[in-house]
Amino acid sequence: MAASHGSIAVMSINNVLIDGFGRQHSYLRISVTDRCNLRCFYCMPRQGLVWRDKAHLLTYEEIERVARIFVEMGITKIRLTGGEPLVRKGLPNLARRLKQIDGLQCLAMTTNATLLAEHAADLRAGGMDALNISLDTFDRAKFERITYQDKYDVVMDGIKAALQEGFDTIKINMVAIAGVNDDEILDFARFALDNPVNVRFIEFMPFKDNDWDIQKVITYQEIKEKIEKVYRLQPRVIGDAGFDTSAVAKDFAMVDGKGWVSFISSMSDSFCSTCNRLRLTADGSIKSCLFAPSEINMRERLREGATDDDIRDMILYSLSRKPEAHPPAAEIAAQENRAMIQIGG
Ligand code: GTP
Ligand code: 5AD
Ligand code: SF4
Repeated sequence: MAASHGSIAVMSINNVLIDGFGRQHSYLRISVTDRCNLRCFYCMPRQGLVWRDKAHLLTYEEIERVARIFVEMGITKIRLTGGEPLVRKGLPNLARRLKQIDGLQCLAMTTNATLLAEHAADLRAGGMDALNISLDTFDRAKFERITYQDKYDVVMDGIKAALQEGFDTIKINMVAIAGVNDDEILDFARFALDNPVNVRFIEFMPFKDNDWDIQKVITYQEIKEKIEKVYRLQPRVIGDAGFDTSAVAKDFAMVDGKGWVSFISSMSDSFCSTCNRLRLTADGSIKSCLFAPSEINMRERLREGATDDDIRDMILYSLSRKPEAHPPAAEIAAQENRAMIQIGG
């Protein structure tokens, strides 16, 4: 199927979703809820948010239907996100059903790990391939200052449970923020030396009312330099196992260690030209770019009896509106967009 929307032609030919800039899309991030049991200041607006009520969320049946169509059109990887996905009841069951979609090669989830100790085994048994876990500090008091919840211990229990289940990969997401956790960069590198995990240092990104300030961004070059004064890093290059040209992270093995470190340089060295992602929000909008406010809401159309062809058209239309790149940081900080917690990363 090919479609022309405005001046930009987009295509889904032979199960490949290509946008007007030639980028092939194979990765769908599905947010299942905007709710979270933490309040990380960099993710959740200071003044709080009104949660979407249940009727405005896609049901699991609706998510499964739309996911199936996305996969027919060329999506091979789905990541479940939130808010915190595990606060929505029955999530492991949805995961199990999505994993059975023909053509889906990888099912992953991003989680804050607070509920992982009780769900890790069930998720793995249902076919969840990989987990990304948010953790910004190893200091219990600081954890509470960042998240406004005293849940450091349960999070560490969740990480331990995940390590025991043998997921294909476990990535630890550390949002590096000057004056908050820059003193722990080497501790996180050490965690990757001692554990079979991929610790990822993420540059702090601006979202609605999230306390962002350019002075608080620590660039990946700064972090890498700090780590390399103590540890040896070996870059992952084309041809190495796991190298992925459309991944958002630059990966390095810890020489003589068990794990990896990576850098997500959204601010200092963006990666829009190789972007392969589309997003489905919990309330049923397709969002073609993390930083672009434009979205296509499918929920009402689904509930009014949209056919599979109608859904395909909405997906292609959303793809046709995907920008070539995100604007500079200062512009992003000033624009109206959903809060990070409502997008899911
Ligand atoms: P993988 O599937 O393992 O590559 O995970 P991921 O890095 O895409 O997902 P995760 O949810 O762990 O997000 C890690 C960080 O990358 C978060 O800060 C996200 O906001 C950021 N991120 C994810 N997708 C994009 C994107 O399309 N653009 C930008 N700029 N950042 C992204
Ligand atoms: N900047 C960078 N990363 C962020 N995340 C949440 N808010 C931000 C931000 N402002 C990360 C979380 C989570 C992932 C989905 O996005 O740490 O791991
Ligand atoms: Fe919740 Fe994750 Fe956002 Fe923290 S970063 S508030 S854990 S969704």
